[in-house]
Amino acid sequence: MLSTNWSKAEKAFQKQLEFNIKELNSTVTPDHWLDVVDAVNFLNPKRFLDIGCGVGTIYKIIQNTSPNISYKGIDYAPAAIKIARDFWKYEGFDQFDFWGLSKKDVSDFDLVYIGALLDVLPNGDEALDFLLSLQIKNLLIGRINLTEGESYYKEYTAYEEIETCAFYHNAQKAKDTIENKYGYKSYGMRWSLLLTK
Ligand SMILES: C[S@@+](CC[C@H](N)C(=O)[O-])C[C@H]1O[C@@H](n2cnc3c(N)ncnc32)[C@H](O)[C@@H]1O
Repeated sequence: MLSTNWSKAEKAFQKQLEFNIKELNSTVTPDHWLDVVDAVNFLNPKRFLDIGCGVGTIYKIIQNTSPNISYKGIDYAPAAIKIARDFWKYEGFDQFDFWGLSKKDVSDFDLVYIGALLDVLPNGDEALDFLLSLQIKNLLIGRINLTEGESYYKEYTAYEEIETCAFYHNAQKAKDTIENKYGYKSYGMRWSLLLTK
């Protein structure tokens, strides 16, 4: 099943970590990380929730940007959470499926990040609607793909292990959901959308 394939992955997360370490050591910072830094500097959050955190590299970006922020990362893949906890030597990573989140779970966080999460779901529009229904205060959607046509997804193999997809949201439908249905203002960043009330 496309929507659960990442949860069973193992080697892929080691590759994700190795790739992220190369990026951290490069002189060029990826656009989606620059967006996280800018959103943090703009909103000055005290508590940051990273949904679909993978191996948790955003923890390092947050530490480098503003070490006093309390960071929590969740991901449904046990292998990702194990690597994140071991590598960053930090306990604030938990295995959790975001479809089980409640309004109460997210209410304490000033900034919630989803980096390439909607992207890997075959039902990205439904997932966006669900997350916005939780009344998240500020949501940063990293690496979102938009299209002028109908929403669709393309299947591909990630890290030579995971049969996954790349979801493209119909831009007008996403705007209606974000602005009209849930009353957020949205700001386009380099490769992210920042939603605030
Ligand atoms: C493309 S990776 C992005 C990882 C990380 N956010 C980043 O930007 O590098 C997508 C992540 O979403 C996680 N994921 C997918 N479905 C999920 C779900 N239902 N609940 C929690 N995490 C999920 C996957 O396990 C994977 O770690």
